[in-house]
Amino acid sequence: MMQERNRATAVRGLEGVLAGETRVGHVDGANGKLYYAGYDIHDLAKHCCFEECVFLLWNDRLPTRKELEDFRAELIPQMTLPGPLLQWFKRVPRGVHPMVMLRSAVSDLALYDEETEDNSVEANRRKAIRLVARVSAVIAAFHRIYNKKPLLEPDVKKGIAFNFLRMFNGLDPTPEEEEAMELMYVLHAEHEFNASTFAARVTASTLADMYAAVTAAIGALKGPLHGGANQRVMEMLQGIESPDEVDAYIDGLFDRGQRIMGFGHREYKVEDPRARHLRKYAEDLCRKDPACSYYEISRRIEQKVKKAKGIYPNVDFYSATVQHALGIPVEYYTTIFAASRIAGWTAHIMEQHADNRLMRPRSLFVGKLGRKLVPLDRRKAPAAAKKAKAR
Ligand code: COA
Repeated sequence: MMQERNRATAVRGLEGVLAGETRVGHVDGANGKLYYAGYDIHDLAKHCCFEECVFLLWNDRLPTRKELEDFRAELIPQMTLPGPLLQWFKRVPRGVHPMVMLRSAVSDLALYDEETEDNSVEANRRKAIRLVARVSAVIAAFHRIYNKKPLLEPDVKKGIAFNFLRMFNGLDPTPEEEEAMELMYVLHAEHEFNASTFAARVTASTLADMYAAVTAAIGALKGPLHGGANQRVMEMLQGIESPDEVDAYIDGLFDRGQRIMGFGHREYKVEDPRARHLRKYAEDLCRKDPACSYYEISRRIEQKVKKAKGIYPNVDFYSATVQHALGIPVEYYTTIFAASRIAGWTAHIMEQHADNRLMRPRSLFVGKLGRKLVPLDRRKAPAAAKKAKAR
């Protein structure tokens, strides 16, 4: 045992570890590239809607126009939620974080799905359809009920992005708003073995059901080092009154050894390719609102952090300003990430179930082995034992 311990080293944070094979997504961090099923994210952002990306991630190919129409026709009606879940929203305590609500609501959805326990390819696909539609619907319905506003039915002629804004804000989005939301959904849909997807795959590898795996993923996404960063970015922007204050504010964070939210990445050592698109939309949307200084403040932060630390904005940095411009309250930002990433999570869960091996890594034990057990009635608290020894 001693020999084994001396030889082994644990990989902290699993950095650089290839933990499995996938066809769903790929990050080329050195070159700042992201691929969904082999397609470059820049091409997808330019040409494809969210539903095309979901179809691609699940089927390893893009749909024809007819297939896309059929896919939407399957998806959108599923945005209508089970009645008991809507009743539960009324009893959620005030002040609960929307990510806590979403995690609980997805777990709750398993109660109303007759196929929860069926992990067959066909049942998994039907559940994935329901989940992609319902995660967006849950966020929108909870927001409406929490604010005592009436619920809206989805418009079956439109896609998820349009319907999310319609059902969340209570009115149809403008074409510009729909376009920005569509981009948000496309850019966040997949990112290979990131922390939340890995959590989903570990859970799926025990042959637990899709709802269990997605619930685990939502729990992992909530943290500020992952999806929770977009909320922290906006909180930082709100704490800076004007672009002239940026230098002092960021220097203060550096002095206190704090991280700048929305910057840095485990994989990307150059700019996150998603940031380019979101920066442009943040600029366009802020231009339309003279009161919005977040874009300018963000640019100043970007220059400052790049110069001081050599790190770049990640997906969460400009997504905060885009979401602000779309009228989404800051505490909901991470739920929007989840509404899109459900596409990648479900693709990975299906891939895991299709060729499963239980994920069970080893740990490097760094404690003391062979300790002498003292029976309960003779055990002393550490301080008392130390004193007795000293005497
Ligand atoms: N602000 C300030 N410094 C940062 C930083 C940030 N956001 N991200 C990384 N760094 C610095 C670290 O302090 C470290 O510097 P050092 O070598 O002088 O100690 C160096 O960059 C490498 O950081 P490391 O912690 O090894 O990177 P990581 O791969 O573990 O971290 C993140 C990746 C995402 C956890 C990290 O960049 C971070 O905390 N970012 C802020 C949260 C965020 O935006 N998360 C969303 C990610 S999509």
